[in-house]
Amino acid sequence: MHKSQILYGTQTGNSQEVAEKLKDDIENVGFEVHCADMFDSDPDDIDQYTNIYFIVSTWGEGEPPDDSVDYFTKLKELPDKKLEGKNFAVCGLGDSAYDIFNGFAKDVETEMIRLGCNAITERVDCDIDFEELSDPWIEKIIVHEKNVR
Ligand SMILES: Cc1cc2nc3c(=O)[nH]c(=O)nc-3n(C[C@H](O)[C@H](O)[C@H](O)COP(=O)(O)O)c2cc1C
Repeated sequence: MHKSQILYGTQTGNSQEVAEKLKDDIENVGFEVHCADMFDSDPDDIDQYTNIYFIVSTWGEGEPPDDSVDYFTKLKELPDKKLEGKNFAVCGLGDSAYDIFNGFAKDVETEMIRLGCNAITERVDCDIDFEELSDPWIEKIIVHEKNVR
């Protein structure tokens, strides 16, 4: 049985909004999905899931939201290739006015590739009007869900 997890990292709620839309859309096609803030999650539990979907914003100067720092620190400590055979996708929320546009989304993607995870679709770097790219990204995830579950 393939299980899927949505993990979001947010400071002001935009990424949570996208994560909850993805959760609703997956449930509407008849599948269960676990959706949580990185703050309430532990990378040691990631083994339970085959498909992992990240929706994360970037703050400071290219940094994670405060509540995502501990999760990301632990993710970076997992050994190379630990997540081989699993699938992931990353949707970044940012603002192109900042120098390090969607820096945290890029860092998450880099880690998942190092861990041997297979990218389902290209990372999207959303700007202020995040739905412009997050909605088509969600549609791609739904196609993937229908194919693998
Ligand atoms: C103080 C501040 C710093 C920010 N720093 C960055 C940044 O370095 N890179 C970026 O792409 N976006 C940056 N942003 C934009 C946020 O990532 C963007 O507003 C995003 O939609 C917030 O999503 P969230 O509500 O899920 O945290 C910053 C916004 C603020 C207010």
